Amino acid sequence: MYCTKKVTDKIVWVGANDRRLHLFENLFPIPNGVSYNAYVILDEKTALMDCVDFSACRQFLENLEHTLAGRKLDYLIVNHMEPDHGATIEEVLRRYPEAVMVGNAKTMGMMKQFFEIDLNGRTLEVKEGSSLDLGTHTLNFVMAPMVHWPEVMMTYESSEKILFSADAFGTFGALNGPIFNDEYDFERDWLDDARRYYTNIVGKYGPQVQAVLKKAATLDIQMICPLHGQVWRNNLAWFIDKYKCWSSYEPEEKGVLVAYASMYGNTENVANLLASALADEGVYHISVYDVSKTDVSYLIGEAFKYSHLVLAAPTYNAGVYPAMEHFLLDMKALNLQKRTVALIENGSWAPMAAKQMAKTLEEMKQMTVLEQTISIKSALKESQKEEVLALAKTLAESVKA
Ligand code: FEO
Repeated sequence: MYCTKKVTDKIVWVGANDRRLHLFENLFPIPNGVSYNAYVILDEKTALMDCVDFSACRQFLENLEHTLAGRKLDYLIVNHMEPDHGATIEEVLRRYPEAVMVGNAKTMGMMKQFFEIDLNGRTLEVKEGSSLDLGTHTLNFVMAPMVHWPEVMMTYESSEKILFSADAFGTFGALNGPIFNDEYDFERDWLDDARRYYTNIVGKYGPQVQAVLKKAATLDIQMICPLHGQVWRNNLAWFIDKYKCWSSYEPEEKGVLVAYASMYGNTENVANLLASALADEGVYHISVYDVSKTDVSYLIGEAFKYSHLVLAAPTYNAGVYPAMEHFLLDMKALNLQKRTVALIENGSWAPMAAKQMAKTLEEMKQMTVLEQTISIKSALKESQKEEVLALAKTLAESVKA
């Protein structure tokens, strides 16, 4: 049975929710699922804005058929080819043989990579500044390369002032009935997953996101229709500000992420003592995670959130404990910058972890590694407790600065 939602009088959400998938991109845990959004514009011409993952194909096709109500589909606008949206393109084009696929030069190239369907005479190639008249609605195409793939574009519908933003402004999490942001407590219930989604998926491409935000600033946008998560119809500036913050690698909050790896609890003990001492110093935005039992995507989200990081790890194979090394390499790959970092290492015979962690951090941009490193041998001793308190004091002063 179809399950559609009205976005405006002439625009219908025809997407689908997926609560079965465990790992988005077979990589990121999505305990609350994910939505694949697609939209139909009903005008003199009809246009479908993107498709969905193949897992949601049946629901999507039912939604599409019901919404078109016997009309033909004139255009399929492909803003993004990644298969969480693009996998069902071929199915739509086969079922709607009169539909013209609209994309840019890179989209056309990727179509040939993913599919073998003959689209001769059925494509319309657009570029920055191109527009497409549907009747009263006009689609204006805005190229958005690397947000999140090279072929990504956004579509601005100028009569209703709606930005179809592709992956940008999306979030993990299936929709629980409503589709609009103001029908949820987004900041309380969704912001962490929106940050985790952005930072892990697009975090590396901050400059490209900034470039698109600059273009978007020239448009009068009343609504944002992303490919995942809620449709934004109020408080747009608040969410756009989050994107400005994340894409410029500025911390969102003054506070401390304490991420520790610990094989037998001794490094964990130091991390807990430090967190406790930080609180005694008046720092209250502190999050403590065991990197061995926290999926790295959550750690990345938190690293983008906080201004200060404490990384505590045992030495392992003369290097850094693997789970911590994974976190560090992911931070580096995602281009995290502008953080102050304190290091704690443990090593029962040759502590090396701090030196190795510092080496990776030095390869990143604008990371300040505090000289005050704590090095313990096996377990923290009473004689070293002052070092922990002193590090907490230094960090607290830096957080409050
Ligand atoms: Fe939602 Fe980059 O795909």
